[in-house]
Amino acid sequence: MLIFLDTANIEHIRHAARLGVISGVTTNPSLVAREEGVDFKAAIQEICSIVPGPGTVSAEVLSLEAEGMIEEARQLSSWAPNIAVKIPVSEAGLEAISVLSREKVKTNFTLCFSVNQALLGAIVGATYVSPFVGRLDDIGHQGMEVVADAVQIFRHYNLSTQVIAASLRHPLHVIAAAKAGAHVATVPYNVLMQMIRHPLTDIGISRFAEDWKKVSNK
Ligand code: G3P
Repeated sequence: MLIFLDTANIEHIRHAARLGVISGVTTNPSLVAREEGVDFKAAIQEICSIVPGPGTVSAEVLSLEAEGMIEEARQLSSWAPNIAVKIPVSEAGLEAISVLSREKVKTNFTLCFSVNQALLGAIVGATYVSPFVGRLDDIGHQGMEVVADAVQIFRHYNLSTQVIAASLRHPLHVIAAAKAGAHVATVPYNVLMQMIRHPLTDIGISRFAEDWKKVSNK
């Protein structure tokens, strides 16, 4: 399972890339709006240059009509070779991805909340589908079931679309995504940091250091 970072914060992306654990980034209009005074195109191009791959950097269209989505997607995908264009689930979104997949534009079918939505995304040739696990959990559903079922169905029919477990809120979500066979987990920066830390590791490191001081003071 690849790890993508779910943010538009350049410092967080730089840090995670230095750690060597991320291979892609997902952004959305809300995440971009959180970063004050950024120029969207410049920010996406900078992120694309930081992210090593083999994953991609997702940038979302704003149009709601198929034609507008296609036009925006062509623009966005010309900004860097590793861009995946996020297109929300809708009839227009399906129409747009049908056209874009024939043009080899990488796409991420986003705001996916059901297995049927994911299946349709795969049928029209989306590079990724993104079930939003946390938002489903928020309304009392088992969000990760959508991930597991989509993975199983895509494998059954040899569909090349990858499943991104998105809207992950805590480290247990990441483990569940890996167990469900998600191709990618996109994680917020704070969740990535939580995955690294463990209080017993901290205690162990300081105990080793203290014990070593005693030896070196002899
Ligand atoms: O990857 C999707 C993500 O950005 C949405 O997360 O926490 O707003 O549901 P959240």
